Amino acid sequence: MKILFATSEAHPLIKTGGLADVSGSLPDAYYHLKHKVRMVLPAYGDVWEKVSDVKQLSELSIGACGRKLHVRIHAASAEGIDIPIWLVDIPELFHRPGNPYLALDGKDWWDNGERFAVFSKVVAEIAMNRAGLKWQPDLVQSNDWQTGLVPALLTLESVRPKTVFTIHNMAYAGLFPKSLFEGLELPWKWWEPDRGIEFYNNMSMLKAGIQMADRVTTVSPSYAKEITFPEYAYGLEGVLIRRLDEGHLIGILNGIDQDLWNPKTDPFIDHHYSADKGRVVAKKRNKKEMLDFWDLPKSVIDSDDPVVGLVGRLVPQKGIDLVLDVLPELIEQTNARFIMVGTGDSLFEYHLTELAHQYPQRVMIYIGYSESLAHKVEAGADLFLMPSRFEPCGLNQLYSLAYGTPPIVHSTGGLSDTVVNATKENLVAGKATGFVFYDPSRHALKSTILHALHLFSKKRTWQKLQKNGMQQDFSWTRSAKQYLALFKAIV
Ligand code: ADP
Ligand code: GLC
Repeated sequence: MKILFATSEAHPLIKTGGLADVSGSLPDAYYHLKHKVRMVLPAYGDVWEKVSDVKQLSELSIGACGRKLHVRIHAASAEGIDIPIWLVDIPELFHRPGNPYLALDGKDWWDNGERFAVFSKVVAEIAMNRAGLKWQPDLVQSNDWQTGLVPALLTLESVRPKTVFTIHNMAYAGLFPKSLFEGLELPWKWWEPDRGIEFYNNMSMLKAGIQMADRVTTVSPSYAKEITFPEYAYGLEGVLIRRLDEGHLIGILNGIDQDLWNPKTDPFIDHHYSADKGRVVAKKRNKKEMLDFWDLPKSVIDSDDPVVGLVGRLVPQKGIDLVLDVLPELIEQTNARFIMVGTGDSLFEYHLTELAHQYPQRVMIYIGYSESLAHKVEAGADLFLMPSRFEPCGLNQLYSLAYGTPPIVHSTGGLSDTVVNATKENLVAGKATGFVFYDPSRHALKSTILHALHLFSKKRTWQKLQKNGMQQDFSWTRSAKQYLALFKAIV
C-alpha cells in the first residue's frame, strides 16, 4: 500500500508534544512492515537545520485569502526517520522561528487558519498526484485540526485515495471565522452544522476531519469512548456518536519508539539498565545525575528519599492545578522531593516557580523544553506523576513504565488503558504497574501519592512493580499493524 502521512510536527524535526513522537515513529513502522510511505510536513524555519539531502522536487501555486502562494516541495531526510520527508515550503507562512503554532509572545500566530488550511490544500494536491511528485497514494492519514481539511477537500474529487483522520486531542478544534471559510473558497454546502464544518458560526477544521474522513481514529480505546460524551467532546459529541454508530470511530493505542526511549541504550543517560540487569544500581546513579542538574548539596544528591518526577506541557489538561494544590501538604507530611520539567501557561509557570522558591531542595523545576532532562527524569525519578484531567493516550506514562519509574495517573483515556493499579490483588497477581486514582480531586491525588510513597519503602514489592512495568510491550509495530488492518479494510 502507498500511504501519505500528513502532520504538523514530527520528532526530531519539530516538536511541541506527543503528536511529534507519533509522527516520528508510526509512518516508519508502516514502512518496516513493507509499505511505501511518505511524510509531508510544513517547512518551518527551524526544520531546515535538522534535515539533510534536501532536494527541490516540484513547484505549484495555491490560491487562498485573495492571493496566490508559490509553493515548493522538497524531499529531505532526517536522522531517525527512515522514510522520505516532503517539506512544503511556503516562506510567507512557515519561515518563522520557534514553536510551530505560537508567536514569540506565546500567542497563536494571527494567521494559523490560513497557514494550515493552505498546507492542507497542498496535501490534497499531493494526494491527488497533481503536485508534480509522480506518486499516487492509496490512503492519506492526517492528524489533528491542522490537517483536518485534507479528508474534506478530498471528498470533492470523484476518484481519490481513502482517508483516515486521527484525533490526538479534542481540546484543539481549529476554530476560525467565517471570513476564512470564504477566503478559502470552500463549498457553501459545508457551511452548516449537521454534515458540514460550521461550528456556532465559525469553521472547525477538527470537525472537517471528523465529518468527512472515511474513518476516524483516536489514540486509545478509552478515549474513543470518552469523546462521545459532552465532557470530552467540546460540542462535537453529536458528530462523534454518528461516526461511532457507523462503526467508523476506532481507538488504537500509541506505542513507544524503542530506539529513542529505551533504558538499555538511551544516549541521554549515563547508566544503562534493563528489567533484568542493573536496574536498582543504575537507577540510583541516574537519580544522582538528574539531581545534580539543580546544583544541590551533596547530602541531597546522595539521599535515598523518594523523588517524584513530572514532565509535560503546563496546561489545564495535565492536572497541574491539582499538583499545585497538594504539593505544600505533601512536602510538610513526607520526605519526598518533586522535580518538574515543563513549559506552558504562564500562571502555572509562575506558581511552580513560587513553590520552588518556597521549598528549596524539595521542589526543583525547569521551566522550558529540554529533551535531555525529559529522559533524565524518566530514568532518575522513583515515581512519575501524570494526574491529567483527560489524556487521549499519553506517552510519558509509557516511557516511565519502560524506565522502571512507576507512574501515578488519573484513570482517564490512554492512562486507564495502560497503567494497572497497585491494589493488593493486582500486586499478588503480578499485574500491577503503577498507581491509579479515579476521581480528579486533590484528596484522591494526595492519598494515591501517599500510598505510592508507602509502597516505595517496601523494596521487594517495589522492584516487582518496576519489573512488571518494564516488561510491558508497547511497541509501535503492534499499533501499526492495527492501523494497517484498518487501512486494508477500506482501500
Ligand atoms: P501531549 O502530547 O499531550 O503533550 P504526551 O504524553 O503524549 O502528551 O507527549 C508529550 C511528549 O512531549 C513527551 O515526549 C514528553 O517527553 C515531551 N515533553 C513535554 N514537555 C516537555 C518539556 N518541557 N521538555 C521536554 N520534553 C517535553
Ligand atoms: C496529544 C494528547 C496525548 C497523546 C498525543 C499523541 O497531544 O494530548 O495524550 O499521547 O497527542 O497521540
